Amino acid sequence: MRNPSSSHPLSSHPVSSEGTDKAWGGRFSGAEAELMERFNASIGVDRKLMEMDIAASLVYARALERAGVLTGEERVTIAEGLHKVREEMSAADFPFDVGLEDIHMAVEERLTHHVGAVGGKLHTGRSRNDQVNADERLYLRQATAAVTQGIRRLQSVLVDSAERHREVILPGYTHLQQAQPILFGHYALSLFWMLERDRGRVSDSWKRADYLPLGAGALAGSAFPLDREQMARELGFSGVTANSLDAVSDRDFLLEALAALAILMMHLSRYCEDLIIWSSIEFGFVELDDAYATGSSMMPQKKNPDSLELVRGKTGRVYGNLMGLLTTMKGVPLTYAKDLQEDKEPAFDSFDTVLDCLEVFAAAWETMAVRSDRMAASMADSLLATDLADYLSRRGIPFRQAHHIVGRLVRDSLEAGDRLGELTLSRMQTYSKEFGEDTLELLKPGRSLDLRNISGGTGPEAVRSQLTRAREILAAG
Ligand code: ARG
Repeated sequence: MRNPSSSHPLSSHPVSSEGTDKAWGGRFSGAEAELMERFNASIGVDRKLMEMDIAASLVYARALERAGVLTGEERVTIAEGLHKVREEMSAADFPFDVGLEDIHMAVEERLTHHVGAVGGKLHTGRSRNDQVNADERLYLRQATAAVTQGIRRLQSVLVDSAERHREVILPGYTHLQQAQPILFGHYALSLFWMLERDRGRVSDSWKRADYLPLGAGALAGSAFPLDREQMARELGFSGVTANSLDAVSDRDFLLEALAALAILMMHLSRYCEDLIIWSSIEFGFVELDDAYATGSSMMPQKKNPDSLELVRGKTGRVYGNLMGLLTTMKGVPLTYAKDLQEDKEPAFDSFDTVLDCLEVFAAAWETMAVRSDRMAASMADSLLATDLADYLSRRGIPFRQAHHIVGRLVRDSLEAGDRLGELTLSRMQTYSKEFGEDTLELLKPGRSLDLRNISGGTGPEAVRSQLTRAREILAAG
């Protein structure tokens, strides 16, 4: 190891050979290796918690005053200092020093710089273990609120799109094979409901995080008479954590949110996949606006759906963040160990990624052209085979038999190169005497939809009431 006192390129903070300049330096006679200092630092990541750290410290200082640790005057001095630190650190180019390890130390160091030794009283009865946990929960509250808003914006794009293209009929798929005709509005709203559950999961994950850990200390609980309930109220938490060991150890609140985000991305990714396929020349069902597509550096004709490909691609990293943190957590003995410092990058990255993806996906959907002519032209007559079988079973033929009869009819007409929609009634009657005049009406896609006004179905009336329900949900906020 190089002597860390001789050169320290990453830090403007002087490192003494005794290591006593560290907040924890008293017990040390040797200096921390420069390599270790860099390896140990989380400031590059957790500086994102600055606002939360200061908000929690302002409340904590009031609790210390009530506990008789700070005088009223000292508390005011500390609060003013913290406001000053917040202002300074809000500057994009504030020089955070890796020697100070993390945001908690950085704030305390700046505070002491402004207010002098009294700043050192702020950490009385507190540990970075309960402090970081409180900061993370405050972050989570904001981040989950931002995601639920992003989901709402996308949901309203989908509702508008369902309304605008209400009459558009396209083939619905199973196994990526044409299955039955559906309304485009029905398709758009299918994502609305998935997102509604995602929204529930994301806000639910906050409910279980909504307890203040401050007062847990390092692990055993603070030895000072802090009014935890009052701190919780001031910070907007619904209550306090019940067990100090649990409070400083667990990150299940982050995992739960990361799981909800992973599921949300899975949903977006599947619709990306559809739209990517649909924007190929072979399908041509939709065309992305130029604003959300890009070209090829070599092939002049290309217009690529990169926006959607990126959302699909980023799904992998959001899954990875969940798996990474689960794996980090699984071997950590109670209570805190430094492994837990690795929780922030995956959490921040998943939230940032999901917020971007929601916005880009909504914009791409809102601006894409929907080609109803291409959708109509692509529909094979055989899409209506189920309706023919249903017809026969309404006439009393057991469905299994009806299925078989229509299956033969489809096979024979495919072999003969005849279109199902152009078959004569007498030809159909050679398969079953039950086919009547009204059979021919069935061979129009619109008729198939009209038969499906069951609630939750793709019939026009059913989709209209779905739209009404969706609009009510949006209006309720
Ligand atoms: N930077 C640390 C983290 O993010 C803060 C807690 C440090 N606690 C400790 N005992 N070293 O987890």
